[in-house]
Amino acid sequence: MKPASLQPLTISANFAISADGKISSSDCRPSGWTSREDHQRLLDLRRGADAILVGRRTLLADNMTLTVPGAVKHPLRCVASASGKFTGQEKLFHTAGGEIHLWSQETPTIARPDMIIHHGDVCEFLQTLHDHHGVKHLHCEGGGELLRLLIERDVLDEIHLTWAAHTIFGGAKAPTITGIPGMVLDVSRHFKLTHFDPRPANGEVFLSYRRAGNLTQ
Ligand SMILES: NC(=O)c1ccc[n+]([C@@H]2O[C@H](COP(=O)([O-])OP(=O)(O)OC[C@H]3O[C@@H](n4cnc5c(N)ncnc54)[C@H](OP(=O)(O)O)[C@@H]3O)[C@@H](O)[C@H]2O)c1
Repeated sequence: MKPASLQPLTISANFAISADGKISSSDCRPSGWTSREDHQRLLDLRRGADAILVGRRTLLADNMTLTVPGAVKHPLRCVASASGKFTGQEKLFHTAGGEIHLWSQETPTIARPDMIIHHGDVCEFLQTLHDHHGVKHLHCEGGGELLRLLIERDVLDEIHLTWAAHTIFGGAKAPTITGIPGMVLDVSRHFKLTHFDPRPANGEVFLSYRRAGNLTQ
């Protein structure tokens, strides 16, 4: 169950999944395999957030800037990196946008005056964003290893999926929304469907779910 102190913080996530439930191929094919409408939906979901969070591998694979075109107030741009390994060449650091927050277990390999560093476990990091940086809604854009950390701590409130069944990736090592398949969750998490929006022209379905019920096996 989500800790009481984190209840005022809404945490959502957005992923596109293939017909076989993968978020990418075994060799981590970057984003761009879904429709323009899916990309527009990604931007719309970003617009509703005070902070966007991605894992370092997603940041690199998708060459992300974590910006919102035309936004008056940009969401904070948060990156999870246990290693803190950055070259400084990442596009994020060379694009204007929201304040950059790095959640890391090591001292990052780059130092920038405009970057705020956080240590500690994931709940401490989330609590700090809420208590000290005005974040009421944090939106995670992956990848699977990072989302798994949020699901394991049971802090995820909403999940938005684009079911892109026009593509099958295959591959035992291709990531899913909870990382590499085979890493069992202690108990199942259940979500209730809140939005169902088929897009026949694109061969995709936009879905939204909200956390429901208690944990069961
Ligand atoms: N289809 C979609 O919607 C979608 C969405 C997002 C991503 N993707 C794809 O998914 C792939 C990447 O996903 P992924 O599951 O491999 O990786 P990921 O979740 O993007 O990255 C995991 C990151 O979490 C960091 N991490 C792990 N434990 C941590 C801790 N205790 N503290 C702080 N940071 C921690 C790691 O940092 P270090 O590496 O520094 O150790 C790692 O970089 C890419 O191919 C991307 O294109 C697809």
